[in-house]
Amino acid sequence: MEVIVVKTQEEGAKAAFEVFKRAYNEGAQVFGLATGSSPIGLYELLRNSDLDFSDRVSVNLDEYVGLAPTDEHSYHYFMKEQLFDAKPFKHSYLPDGLAKDVDAEVERYERILQENPVDLQLLGIGSNAHIGFNEPGTPFTQRTHKVHLTESTIEANKRFFEKEEDVPRYAYSMGLQSIMDAKEIVLIAFGPKKIHAIKGLVEGPITEEVPASILQKHPKVTVICDEAAAALLTK
Ligand code: GLP
Repeated sequence: MEVIVVKTQEEGAKAAFEVFKRAYNEGAQVFGLATGSSPIGLYELLRNSDLDFSDRVSVNLDEYVGLAPTDEHSYHYFMKEQLFDAKPFKHSYLPDGLAKDVDAEVERYERILQENPVDLQLLGIGSNAHIGFNEPGTPFTQRTHKVHLTESTIEANKRFFEKEEDVPRYAYSMGLQSIMDAKEIVLIAFGPKKIHAIKGLVEGPITEEVPASILQKHPKVTVICDEAAAALLTK
């Protein structure tokens, strides 16, 4: 695992952009994408770049259950605004928050991942070290699943909604095993709220209580974080 500590979020976005550009130029076909505030600077650089994704595929980590793609809180909407309108992909896959049959949706998404193996997976990290929406206690062997969000995740995500009651309680998420299947992973984290998550991810014991700690077993991970998030690291 390579850890890059940056001084500013702009510097972090640039470092992540370089990873994307290198993977793109090496021929990466499938990009695993993430939502949240951490990748916003990267998406801006991608929008303004000369990279053309129209012959590449994207698959997103997760989506809220119950939200339509046109809902401004949905991850479909976020991705359209942040990237897809400016940089369309050949296909962009996200879980369908409105799917009527949960099992069929989970199966459909997992099949998409099998048919489109991810070359580069982008990740953020929750303050409880969740990745995607894989909350503490999720088995490392988990594939795509429907998740009951924890109170801390609902609390952290309520800033995007008018009222806490509006935050969906469930989401579809790639599982930890689905994430580990990616050939390469780049994770971005900024700010003091991520300090324990980054410590656990990089130096903690590998335990299902710290979902991101499984990344220590992945052969090609780059962690990009600022000094506040990296403050507990000893190496
Ligand atoms: C949500 C998303 C995650 C994301 C996390 C951190 O829970 N499902 O994919 O990594 O939030 O978000 P932020 O980057 O805004 O701190």
